[in-house]
Amino acid sequence: MKILIFGAGGQIGHEVCRAAWPSSYEVLPLDRSAGDVTHPAALSALIASRRPDLVINLAAYTAVDRAESEPEAAWAANCAGAAHLAATCEENSAPLIHLSTDYVFDGRKRGSYTEDEPVNPLCVYGCSKEAGERAVRAAALCHIIIRTSWVYGVHGNNFVKTMLRLAGERQILRVVADQQGCPTAAADIASALTMIARQIDQGTARWGTFHFAGAGDTSWHGFAEEILDLESRFGARPSGSRPQIEPVTTAQYPTPARRPMNSVLDCRKIAEAYGVSAPPWRTSLAAVVRELIDQKRPR
Ligand SMILES: NC(=O)c1ccc[n+]([C@@H]2O[C@H](COP(=O)([O-])OP(=O)(O)OC[C@H]3O[C@@H](n4cnc5c(N)ncnc54)[C@H](OP(=O)(O)O)[C@@H]3O)[C@@H](O)[C@H]2O)c1
Repeated sequence: MKILIFGAGGQIGHEVCRAAWPSSYEVLPLDRSAGDVTHPAALSALIASRRPDLVINLAAYTAVDRAESEPEAAWAANCAGAAHLAATCEENSAPLIHLSTDYVFDGRKRGSYTEDEPVNPLCVYGCSKEAGERAVRAAALCHIIIRTSWVYGVHGNNFVKTMLRLAGERQILRVVADQQGCPTAAADIASALTMIARQIDQGTARWGTFHFAGAGDTSWHGFAEEILDLESRFGARPSGSRPQIEPVTTAQYPTPARRPMNSVLDCRKIAEAYGVSAPPWRTSLAAVVRELIDQKRPR
């Protein structure tokens, strides 16, 4: 099986590149310089010449707050780029796995969101991703859209790395405590992608939209507490030097982009269809914090 990965230079892309793929699979990672989804002619030529059996689209404009002042760039990658990629996959009979986000929801629901719940994004990033989903559904018959949430990993910029950095610089951190979601390790998404690809290869795929996120949920404040607890537990911070984490409300911490207050994803559908589920979010977080600390230790 030949698999083309767009957006391979990002945090999920990094984990997809080091995931355990069957040795007979040819995985071709493309970063933005090798495969820009906003360049339709080059994209079409690339797919026509490589003739992949599967395309995975991890390419996206993901700067949620910056998107409010750069909407054209967000829409170009997240909607127009996704649309063209999906159409090109269809022309070349290549199934497409496309990543999307919990920010397609408005967060007003109590409890977790299933895949068929109505969408109503609140920010430019969410709107552009939601439009990208519709474009993928319209253009490619054999598509799998995977919505995930609160992604972190050892590569790239994310909340875990920001908290570890700020903890070394400040004595008090203020973190939003009234937004609820599911932290998801990039490595768990990569592992799920390998299992889904196998089923596409075996002809047992189920097409459609799925949720995949770390098991359990928390607030950004709860997430931050666990990150710093793990850092102390792994001995990376002298006792007594752990900063306090002050809970604040969304209203007290205004950001350019509005985010859903609740974006907890119900992940039963992908578990039933593909037999994949992420570990409890604390378990995966411990592995990532450990790896980040180990990277910094003198050898
Ligand atoms: N991060 C999250 O919390 C989160 C949550 C839910 C869903 N997701 C979704 O998961 C997917 C992967 O996200 P991620 O966390 O891995 O994000 P990321 O680290 O920002 O990676 C995205 C990658 O896409 C590349 N890219 C941007 N514009 C491109 C273009 N026009 N053509 C080709 N590549 C382009 C970026 O390249 P540059 O580095 O050169 O910009 C970057 O390497 C996205 O669909 C995102 O919407 C992410």
